[in-house]
Amino acid sequence: MIDDRIDFGGKTAIVTGAASGMGELASREMARRGAAVVLADINLERAEAVADEIRAAGGRALAAKTDVRKFDDIQNAVDKAVSEFGSADVTVSFAGGEPARMLNGPGDFVEQPIELIDWGLQVNGRAPLYMARAVLPQMIKQRGGVIINIGSVTGLEPTKTIVYSTAKSALVGLTRAVATYGAPYGIRCCCVAPGPVLTRPDMAKMETALGRAAEPEEIVRLVMFLASDQGSFITGTTYLADCGRMVRRK
Ligand SMILES: NC(=O)c1ccc[n+]([C@@H]2O[C@H](COP(=O)([O-])OP(=O)(O)OC[C@H]3O[C@@H](n4cnc5c(N)ncnc54)[C@H](O)[C@@H]3O)[C@@H](O)[C@H]2O)c1
Repeated sequence: MIDDRIDFGGKTAIVTGAASGMGELASREMARRGAAVVLADINLERAEAVADEIRAAGGRALAAKTDVRKFDDIQNAVDKAVSEFGSADVTVSFAGGEPARMLNGPGDFVEQPIELIDWGLQVNGRAPLYMARAVLPQMIKQRGGVIINIGSVTGLEPTKTIVYSTAKSALVGLTRAVATYGAPYGIRCCCVAPGPVLTRPDMAKMETALGRAAEPEEIVRLVMFLASDQGSFITGTTYLADCGRMVRRK
């Protein structure tokens, strides 16, 4: 259950990675609570299908073909939010994933081709930086907004998953710096770092102290709390939601 006091009435949200998993769920839930949502994903067909369903249910949404490796695509998604819905109030950068899994490449760092390393850094680390660069001018004009980055427990724990960890840990610093930069304009920035989430069944294999992985909703409701006015006192911080993976006994 997502808290019904969370309200996005009159707000416009830009969500990357909105065509599946947590990004899709967050887009649907924010739209249900009044947000106009720009679903920014490389998979346009799927993003359009989700946007259609949101509109059919009475919400406001549109899809924007966005490869988050390209700054112009991200800027286009932000510009669409402003031209179609009048503002850019919330961004959530869900697009991402462990590159060896996403590109079906080798897991061992020393066997990884440079293209895989670059993809991992660009999608997981550079894209949220690009998003901040694209949206901050509008948020400064508006004197407000919320930027949410999606990290990972893998960016905070000892791990051999070097590329993904490097990119996701960078979001801790990005979040602090954007929050510092945005504060004089009333702009907040937070990061949510999930443990294993059941957007894929095999995430259930990843160990946690409580012995399970999260339902997507358990992460999305934290994201929505921080992105809404319920999170008004919170900025610059990274929230670990990992079911105790970091405190488990080996
Ligand atoms: N699922 C987990 O266990 C878990 C754990 C920790 C962190 N995370 C992070 O949460 C986020 C969402 O995870 P999920 O499992 O819901 O994702 P998912 O794999 O279900 O969805 C990822 C989305 O990103 C899109 N995408 C991929 N490359 C893109 C690109 N270049 N440009 C634009 N869009 C692109 C895909 O089309 C897809 O719609 C990711 O950043 C992931 O790293 C996930």
